[in-house]
Amino acid sequence: MPPLDEAEPVDIEDIGSNPNPHGTLAEIAERRLSRRGVLMGAVASAALAAVGPTLAEVAGPSSLGFPELAHRLSQGDAVAEGYETQVVIRWGDPVLADAPPFDPHALTAAAQAQQFGYNNDYLDFFPLPRGSGASDHGLLVVNHEYTNTNLIFAGLGAGRGAAQKASAEQAAVEQAAHGLSVVELRRQGGRWMPVRDGRLNRRITATTPMRVSGPAAGHDRLKTKADPTGTQVLGTVNNCSGGNTPWGTVLTAEENFNVYFGGAAAVAGAQRDHYRRYGILPDSTYAWLRYDSRFDLDQEPNEPNRFGWVVEFDPYDPASVPVKRTALGHFKHEACNHAISADGRVVIYMGDDERFEYIYKFVTARPFVPDDPAANRDLLDEGTLYVARFQDDGTLAWLPLVQGEGPLTAANGFATQADVLIETRRAADLLGATPMDRPEDVEPNPRTGRVYAMLTNNGSRTTERLNAANPRAANDHGHVVEIIPPGAGTGRVDHAATTAKWEIFLMAGKPGVDPGTRYHRATSDQGWLSCPDNCAFDKHGRMWISTDGAPAAAGVADGLYAADTAGYGRALPRLFYQAPTGAEVCGPRFTPDGETIFLAIQHPGEDPGSSFDRPSTRWPDFQDGMPPRPAVIAITRKGGGEIGS
Ligand code: FEO
Ligand code: CA
Ligand code: CA
Repeated sequence: MPPLDEAEPVDIEDIGSNPNPHGTLAEIAERRLSRRGVLMGAVASAALAAVGPTLAEVAGPSSLGFPELAHRLSQGDAVAEGYETQVVIRWGDPVLADAPPFDPHALTAAAQAQQFGYNNDYLDFFPLPRGSGASDHGLLVVNHEYTNTNLIFAGLGAGRGAAQKASAEQAAVEQAAHGLSVVELRRQGGRWMPVRDGRLNRRITATTPMRVSGPAAGHDRLKTKADPTGTQVLGTVNNCSGGNTPWGTVLTAEENFNVYFGGAAAVAGAQRDHYRRYGILPDSTYAWLRYDSRFDLDQEPNEPNRFGWVVEFDPYDPASVPVKRTALGHFKHEACNHAISADGRVVIYMGDDERFEYIYKFVTARPFVPDDPAANRDLLDEGTLYVARFQDDGTLAWLPLVQGEGPLTAANGFATQADVLIETRRAADLLGATPMDRPEDVEPNPRTGRVYAMLTNNGSRTTERLNAANPRAANDHGHVVEIIPPGAGTGRVDHAATTAKWEIFLMAGKPGVDPGTRYHRATSDQGWLSCPDNCAFDKHGRMWISTDGAPAAAGVADGLYAADTAGYGRALPRLFYQAPTGAEVCGPRFTPDGETIFLAIQHPGEDPGSSFDRPSTRWPDFQDGMPPRPAVIAITRKGGGEIGS
């Protein structure tokens, strides 16, 4: 979710509520960066000498074979020459068999609950049949993170202030446009098509019944008037990025859950310090609390504790009840990407997407058992949550968030593990975790076992609050940190270990213009990027980075970039796809054969002054009267073949 536009004085999703600087000396950061810089320069020189001018003319020392796209701002999108895009499914397209046709002038909650939701973020592809590895038939699973009220409804004007003008029916439409979609897809004749009456098609919304499990389930602070058990919740909201499990379920991450709540209790109630730490304020961004009392803190003071979790569900069973897995912690969850550690335990890497927040991982207590769904069903309820401390010497300590250990005692307000989990951020503060520059995707590279954290930006970091892993003040462009677990590169990677090493992979921004940038020295005028958000790895271990927040003032739109992570072309990004104005790029996800990459194009037209009536773009339909529509696109190579080769 991007920052609020100019109409809003305060960015309440990203309030930067962590007061704990843990600042280390800027000199240490500089020393560390310099060492890395010398190394990268050396690699680049060797690469150019070894590869020779022919390849260097095309792509420098990059292994990526596509001709680089040029930076540009446009109402439309663009992809590298030799590739083509197609729109797979858009906001309002039918998901369920009985869904009515999309009519942006007559939206109803009942229709929206059967149609594709708004603001697609995480997307995933689950082959059909299950376990088949198919690349032409599968389930597309998509998060619908939030709604741009001003772009959805006519007559409300521009800016996020439009959300406050929503009627009861409009608020209900917004609730139905949240959640997820599951859509069966087939590729026929080179075209990806949704299967209209797909038996597994499903909509999950902000009112779908869910179960709570794990140590915080049933805790007093999760109980409400409607649910005195503290175990049954309606809906999921602000589902940003996500991931999947080795046993084939979806993990969807509830990010900025704070923006839906409001009420005086935010500052006057018993949980005011806790709510302040999560950016829950008296004023809500949305109008929902006027029509749905569970979002009103003065009526339901515990409801915010029921959001901000990772939710698991089985996409292959449309009747499955989604489960909020409290063992994975309570924060503004971004991604949840897994690796299987050398001993068979499953490790889930996660970010808390806010300025000065932390990177976490969860390690299951028991190993994953292939081909035994019953053994894996509740694997995410037992295990250890860790938070990362990036030390200046290039080592990393994973600190356990376990009740009774270190400062996590009853005397400090943590009487049980549920207390630790509900107040995950405060527990991590006490342990001395490293405040990061907005952690978004944290994703292991399956080829090498190295783990990459997208740190999207942090304009609020001052020189007094620098640390070695976040070495730039006023970090408007973000960076990528590489975590190296023991055994990385050997085939027996110990993702469960409590230590690791780390490096800066790249510092984003325009080389030669923005201070502190760091890439492969052959990075071109088109290859530099800003605000890394999501990533994916292709079969060769190359990283595909999507961005959210590129500087329009510099003539750059958000997009998708690809870079080698090893070899001569390491940290040399190349621009592959450019998004329409106002949009961020999410996903990305390859089919198993690597011949299609799906992208979620989120909030096209989210520009200052843009509204339903006067949008900055009408992508992707470009029809009069049709607003911009968030959509999932598929990119393939003309004539077929692997993407990027
Ligand atoms: Fe929804 Fe963290 O971006
Ligand atoms: Ca984002
Ligand atoms: Ca994101």
